[in-house]
Amino acid sequence: MKNFILSLFFSFFPLTFADLGVDISIATSKESFACLLNQGYTFVIIRAYCSYGAVDPNLVTNIQNAQSAGFQSIQVYMFPCFPCGNPQNQVLELVEVITPYLEQVRDPIWIEATKYAWSTNQQQNQNFLFSMGSSIRSLAASTAGILTSQTDWTNIVGSNWVGSGGFTLWSIQHDDVPEINTDSYDFFIDYYLKQYEGPMTICNTTVNFDTDAGATLIE
Ligand SMILES: *[C@@H]1O[C@H](CO)[C@@H](O)[C@H](O)[C@H]1NC(C)=O
Repeated sequence: MKNFILSLFFSFFPLTFADLGVDISIATSKESFACLLNQGYTFVIIRAYCSYGAVDPNLVTNIQNAQSAGFQSIQVYMFPCFPCGNPQNQVLELVEVITPYLEQVRDPIWIEATKYAWSTNQQQNQNFLFSMGSSIRSLAASTAGILTSQTDWTNIVGSNWVGSGGFTLWSIQHDDVPEINTDSYDFFIDYYLKQYEGPMTICNTTVNFDTDAGATLIE
């Protein structure tokens, strides 16, 4: 019933109850960030690490551009490289680049766990993600989160891996509705963000659309 009432609210006041934001993985100009801000997107999540195993070459410029355009909420995500191994070293590489900007970048640091070159052995994927999360906490002094869909999560680590406790969830549910469905992912400690649409071209850049579910969640 609560969800039903929430849905009604959302259909009438979509911008009142959820903070809308975007995530980006390409070089984006200050003008483009300013344009996004103007269109009502109040937070941005920038790719910080690429799946080929290196810090995203656009990371620093994107953080600077977002900041100078006026974004007050900037987060980052890592698309890790499972075949490269050594998740701790991948976090270290990021920390070396991002440390001067940690004042501007908010918790958590996200790890993307979507379809990619993961092991067919779920235990190995679990160990990798667990180690990467621990490294983010210890080396970057940040909380850690996971960007995933229910299908991806089930394929990569199994649907009931309880070792994921400690990760905040950024849920991929491309249903074009900013409201989050809390029925899934019981094993995450918190529901924080939802990616509800994308990728799309807007303001001369390409983004996915996200919502801060923190304000919209009841139980
Ligand atoms: C987008 O690109 C066009 C063509 O280069 C330019 O005129 C326009 O100002 C740009 N808009 C933004 C928001 O960057």
